[in-house]
Amino acid sequence: MQNIFQGRSLLAEKDFTKDELMYLIDFAIHLKELKKKGVPHRYLEGKNIALLFEKASTRTRAAFTVAATDLGAHPEYLGKDDIQIGNKESVEDTAKVLGRMFDGIEYRGFKQGNAEVLAEHSGVPVWNGLTDEWHPTQMIADYMTLKENFGKLEGLTLVYTGDGRNNVANSLLVTGAILGVNVTIVTPESLFPDETVVNMAEGFAETSGAVIKITDNVKDGVRNADALYADVWVSMGEEDKFEERVKLLQPYQVNTEMLAATENDKTILLHCLPAFHDTKTDYGKMVESKFGISEMEITDEAFRSSQARQFDQAENRMHSIKAIMAATLGQLFIPRV
Ligand code: CP
Ligand code: NVA
Repeated sequence: MQNIFQGRSLLAEKDFTKDELMYLIDFAIHLKELKKKGVPHRYLEGKNIALLFEKASTRTRAAFTVAATDLGAHPEYLGKDDIQIGNKESVEDTAKVLGRMFDGIEYRGFKQGNAEVLAEHSGVPVWNGLTDEWHPTQMIADYMTLKENFGKLEGLTLVYTGDGRNNVANSLLVTGAILGVNVTIVTPESLFPDETVVNMAEGFAETSGAVIKITDNVKDGVRNADALYADVWVSMGEEDKFEERVKLLQPYQVNTEMLAATENDKTILLHCLPAFHDTKTDYGKMVESKFGISEMEITDEAFRSSQARQFDQAENRMHSIKAIMAATLGQLFIPRV
């Protein structure tokens, strides 16, 4: 009997149905329990996984490495300075080579098109570990964290505040729309999400009943939020934009005032990390000396508050990536969802 996930890539959330995404979230919760109880789950014994990274990573790299190892597979890190991809060898040729050696490929890079070329020419599942457009593995962890906190997803309201055009904002919008989670993007008009992303989300929302809202009004946007979600103001690859973003996004910082404006004392705080909540980083120091602020997208107080769940999210990256790899590569018995 055919496993509906077997052999599939996860390039963008839009390629998966609500039930399939829900299955991956629930499977991740199950794998988390197995890990905590010390029950082995070596569904990928003897497999080899390539980890292609054109951008830096702590969580995604660590999560794929530990998840692959727990599943009995061998993960191999191939950083941009280690291999020929892009410089001396095309993505297509790289895909053909890696597909003959590896059973699955993780790709983190700039162009979504590269993830698609890898999937087309490697013949093995490709998992998007973040591109400029989408961050789908992050979504399974994020919505898993929401489900752990509220026991359900449908009807919840997630409010993302900050750069409304980045990969995480895009992915939250589309995934929430598929799952039936209301998503509000609170961002200045010049950073409103791309129309094609909003249209895609609205299309899914028609079926799921989710409410999609894009606004530059903080007070109105955050009211009744079950979760407030922040990401960096400047994503990887756009480091020349600090000045513009610091000027634009200060009113969109997650802080105690914004938490109070939710008018909901059970709101949780989410952040995909890394976060600029103090000046203990090089960029944090640079922003303080150039622009005079010591916290960016989230204050240190909010980051350390009892409502904050960002380290659960970070842990859940590992369990959810494990679920994604096992479902698509593990010959598991999943005839339907
Ligand atoms: N959230 C996330 O993707 O973190 P890394 O960039 O450290 O992988
Ligand atoms: N939007 C951020 C996400 C980091 C996990 C970036 O692309 O840098």
